Amino acid sequence: MQIELSEEQQMIQALAREFAEKEVKPVAALLDAEARFPHETVKRMGELGLMGIAVPEAYGGSGADTVAYVLALEEIAKACASHAVIMSVNNSLYCDPVLKYGTDEQRKKFLAPFASGQQIGCFALTEPQAGSDATNQHTLAVRDGDGYVLNGRKVFVTNGREAAVALVFAQTDPAKAHRGISAFLIERGTPGFLVPKVEDKLGIRASDTAEFVFEECRVRAANRLGEEGMGFKIAMGTLDGGRIGIAAQALGIAAGAFDLSVAYAKERKSFGVPIAQHQMVQWMLADMATAIEAARLLIWRAAALKDAGRPFGPEASMAKLFASEMAMKATTDAIQVHGGYGYIKEYQVERYFRDAKITQIYEGTSQIQKLIIARHVLGAR
Ligand code: CAA
Repeated sequence: MQIELSEEQQMIQALAREFAEKEVKPVAALLDAEARFPHETVKRMGELGLMGIAVPEAYGGSGADTVAYVLALEEIAKACASHAVIMSVNNSLYCDPVLKYGTDEQRKKFLAPFASGQQIGCFALTEPQAGSDATNQHTLAVRDGDGYVLNGRKVFVTNGREAAVALVFAQTDPAKAHRGISAFLIERGTPGFLVPKVEDKLGIRASDTAEFVFEECRVRAANRLGEEGMGFKIAMGTLDGGRIGIAAQALGIAAGAFDLSVAYAKERKSFGVPIAQHQMVQWMLADMATAIEAARLLIWRAAALKDAGRPFGPEASMAKLFASEMAMKATTDAIQVHGGYGYIKEYQVERYFRDAKITQIYEGTSQIQKLIIARHVLGAR
């Protein structure tokens, strides 16, 4: 077995690393404090080809692969988890399904501007009563002439306020339960598509998390992605890929907090020596380093399976479960290494700790990942 990155993958990793170091890291703390969406740096991510990494060049993307994508995401998340989720949702939850299920016409209109980062997209599945229980969709899309009329509500939509187009899931045939769900590409500004609320959050504060309300919102049938009733499969298949992205985000958060901890341990003295010389601190750093490396390998494996066109859902869930739990532990320990200073905003690790928490929740909680993995190992799926 060979774990060798291609030249292109290394190049994208290096490009993302340099951009993250020079342009994202310096603004991350302020954006977090002000809960401000990073328009300028997101535009730069588009210019650098980071918003549609695995999308073919013909559709505005970089024409690379999922491995390159996770390498880049890790680098971005090391500097700022908010930038990473903005990038992850646009790449995985928006561009990926439009590429996979879109008609050629839909790809031209709804993919190229997004893969090139001129615009960003979002994914609206969750409803107040349909979080983990995603089949329980109440948003209705009723056929009316050459289109559909939508009524309902979506919550916790990452990129929701900024997105030019939302991939929205709605019931077109409630009698068929999840087999009656369909997917729609809905443009901002469509009458009846309202964004009444943007959430104030614990972490990933520079990304926006919005609520959508659809009131008699008319959408053309040409905006339906895939066949009627295919929506839930599109959502689930898309989330399999999205989970690899969130795992890479969690990995980057942990790696960023680890780097800060190593630097601090070498500098901070107690009992007359740098704390890095104390075995108890060394053990914490060793555990963090080992867990980070293990997460990285799980993520690379899931990404490589996706690139090879092989089934990767349970592997994506394993990567997300392990990486997000690991990120929470690593960022908790990073604060511990910093002692009292870790609790102070100036030292930054508290931001990594706050940002890590969401990775155990969105795109399927750790409990949902365990359910998917258990069904797989038990041969139930
Ligand atoms: N790919 C394709 N189809 C899949 C699938 C997959 N990975 N997993 C399930 N399905 C299909 C099943 O085949 C089944 O279809 P059929 O009945 O036609 O065969 C259908 O989906 C329902 O599956 P289940 O019977 O397994 O349904 P369930 O209710 O028992 O379990 C679940 C489903 C796994 C719990 C699912 O609801 C789930 O993943 N929940 C978590 C939802 C989630 O991750 N939400 C995140 C939203 S996005 C977000 O976080 C915000 C953001 O912007 C970042």
